[in-house]
Amino acid sequence: MTSTAIQDGQPGAAAAHESFRLRRDAELSSDATGALRLRQSRFQLPLGGLGVSRRALVLRLAGDWVGDLELHRIVVGLEGEGQLLPAQILLRRLSAHSWLERRLQAGGRPLLDVVPRGLGSGSLPEARRHEPGGRYRLSRFAGLRVQDGRLVAASPLATVAVACADPGLATVFATAADAGCDVHDVADTLAVAEPVAGRVLDELLTGRLLVTAAEFEEESTHAPLAYWLPEELALHDRARPGRHVAPVGGTYPFRGKLPPAPLRRSFPDGRHRVLPVPDMELVAKRDEPLTAVVRARHSVREHDDGHPLTVDALGEFLYRVQHTSGVTQAGGQEVGHRPYPGGGGLCELEIYPLVSRCSGLDPGLYHYDSVEHRLTLLTGHDAAGSKVTRYARSAAGMAETPQVLLVITARVQRMMWKYEGLSYAMALKNAGVLTGLMYLVATAMGLAPCALGAGDSAAFARLAGIDPLVEPNIADFTLGSRRAA
Ligand SMILES: Cc1cc2nc3c(=O)[nH]c(=O)nc-3n(C[C@H](O)[C@H](O)[C@H](O)COP(=O)(O)O)c2cc1C
Repeated sequence: MTSTAIQDGQPGAAAAHESFRLRRDAELSSDATGALRLRQSRFQLPLGGLGVSRRALVLRLAGDWVGDLELHRIVVGLEGEGQLLPAQILLRRLSAHSWLERRLQAGGRPLLDVVPRGLGSGSLPEARRHEPGGRYRLSRFAGLRVQDGRLVAASPLATVAVACADPGLATVFATAADAGCDVHDVADTLAVAEPVAGRVLDELLTGRLLVTAAEFEEESTHAPLAYWLPEELALHDRARPGRHVAPVGGTYPFRGKLPPAPLRRSFPDGRHRVLPVPDMELVAKRDEPLTAVVRARHSVREHDDGHPLTVDALGEFLYRVQHTSGVTQAGGQEVGHRPYPGGGGLCELEIYPLVSRCSGLDPGLYHYDSVEHRLTLLTGHDAAGSKVTRYARSAAGMAETPQVLLVITARVQRMMWKYEGLSYAMALKNAGVLTGLMYLVATAMGLAPCALGAGDSAAFARLAGIDPLVEPNIADFTLGSRRAA
């Protein structure tokens, strides 16, 4: 059977029917021999050797919902009843391997579409059934999104999502989030018979959008789920393939649509301060060996304000951690070389020294132009006493204002032009790599380094006059002179 019809025996009550169509992110194509092929990002399913009616069925599934009646009409009309079973088996296999969306409808009215997130055998979750009389809560991991012009509810804990074909489903979610809902509530809200409402509940349970009271308690108060913020789990889920097959990686989603941002971030109109280029031969002779530096490295939250950091030391430090060279083209955008590795060589991270005390340099917020090795003053006004500095000082638990706060931003559009699904996560990783290098270079130079877990990104955006959606502040690092031991 390719669809289920539930007769509930109540006068006037509609039955539930299922129909199917190709998932929206899949493509159907045919090769030179006419053989059909399904494709979804890196997955393919060749569909060679189909007879006339199964071929017609697949072509119909690519553009429309197909229920029992349509399947019967297509197959019997073309090849007679003898081909019904093979066609039904094909439909069932495609559905079981998550190539198809499944629609639940009652009396010709679509209620919901089950949208697979995974692909391949074993990618559908085990079907769950509601208990008669059971009340269900909205999972705290359920999220609503607009997708393909539909309201889609999804949980990172399930491999299927549910699109609200009937707007009443949004009311079901609101009720479930509040007092919880049972089959009567669903039947009333959607104006369907209770057996149909039961089917709706089953789908919402299978998609882990609704949970039992015990599960809700578990996900709110017990390890491991209670630890996770829904936002953190959603970011983790999107950035890692496995449970879903949304594209993750270098797919260049904006190539040909929007121009890529150049590698070099510069503020041409600002006041520039060209920094001396350190003699790296001398530096190499002066530095302790790597192992000694690694062993000596630790966070230092005290600065020697009697002998503050000098502009030359700041310049050497910035050169050694961030200097950019070897700018060239790859994949249609500029890439470059920096002292630390970074996903794609996109050099999306920028450093903004917020200087409170540095000999030879006025207090203020600067941008480090890593190609030209120069600082550009963005604002001197109140920079040292700003909310950004106050937050950093408190995060580091420092008694005094840090001599220099290095605010690290990510030009996320450079990442998002190339990468899909993992751009932000990758920028955070790159910031960790940069931070690690900052610790080592500061240690080698006898400076006082300390990374920070967070900073006031909104205050920084206001202070710098930078759009936080274009270049969010994603990491922060305090740097100063170290007191003599
Ligand atoms: C990503 C990151 C975030 C950090 N956040 C803070 C912070 O907000 N405040 C702070 O005082 N130290 C912070 N630290 C420093 C750690 O507390 C420190 O590295 C850790 O306690 C180990 O000490 P050590 O660096 O001296 O080896 C951070 C370190 C890293 C790498």
